[in-house]
Amino acid sequence: MRNRLYHGEHGGLRRSRSSINKVPCPPFVTVSSVVAHFEFADKTCTAPAARSDRMRDIALAHVPRDRAIRLLDLGCGTGSLLFRLAEALPAAALCGVDISPANIRAARTRQAGQPAAGRVRFEAADYLDYVAEPFDAIVTDGVLHLIPGDSATLVRKLASDLVPGGLLFCSMPFDCAYNRAFAGVRRVLRSVRSSWLDLLILKFARFLHGAEMDEEGLRERVDYMYIAPERLMSEPLAACFASVGLRRVATYPMESTSPSQLKHQVTVFAREPIRS
Ligand SMILES: C[S@@+](CC[C@H](N)C(=O)[O-])C[C@H]1O[C@@H](n2cnc3c(N)ncnc32)[C@H](O)[C@@H]1O
Repeated sequence: MRNRLYHGEHGGLRRSRSSINKVPCPPFVTVSSVVAHFEFADKTCTAPAARSDRMRDIALAHVPRDRAIRLLDLGCGTGSLLFRLAEALPAAALCGVDISPANIRAARTRQAGQPAAGRVRFEAADYLDYVAEPFDAIVTDGVLHLIPGDSATLVRKLASDLVPGGLLFCSMPFDCAYNRAFAGVRRVLRSVRSSWLDLLILKFARFLHGAEMDEEGLRERVDYMYIAPERLMSEPLAACFASVGLRRVATYPMESTSPSQLKHQVTVFAREPIRS
């Protein structure tokens, strides 16, 4: 499967010969990774079904269904996307990694009843410390903007975790006025967080989404209202990806499921084949 997954904007398999440029990565807001561990450690997170469906469909537009690829879901939560991909890719071996042991416990519980259980495994780890053989594809929905630290370090790791020609499917908030304003609101909320404010946010969430989400799902979302993005997808960030050999090959809109959510888009990057 090595070197075979690179599909261009129009779906055709092709190789790129563009060089790996040295581009400075955009600045970011620094929070220590220790804080990140506490932020997510005991929490579960499950994307709305429509969102995981959309990510799966985008991946399937680029990844051959019948090949024995190795696929990583970075920040897999409770496995919402990974189980969908396991069903759609019957020959694939799939791995889900998440920093939250609570998520991994929930995913493993769910795994027991799945027909594809034998091809799926889950690991609790901070992605930045996670070591594995390179993958043919990495999917990551709503995660890269949460990982603190240097963007250059993160994108270098993503590139090194893909085989040449491998694909990265990255859903994250993009740089726009709405997301910038909302990030500011979240920083303010974080600075005045209290149990009273938690309750108010929960009540508002029940009002907006009580009909389609259960209480557990609504409670999960409260913490995220206090987390501002570390980075947004932007041209400078895409250039940072390009500088490590991750070339953007497609961009897709991702419909918002809530006004309280940052607006996301899905960007597909291909790892440049190594030039001899
Ligand atoms: C918004 S949730 C998305 C979960 C999942 N991708 C989904 O769509 O259901 C973000 C997830 O990223 C995980 N996460 C945050 N930082 C991480 C890190 N450094 N390494 C691995 N996972 C991380 C969180 O624990 C959380 O499950």
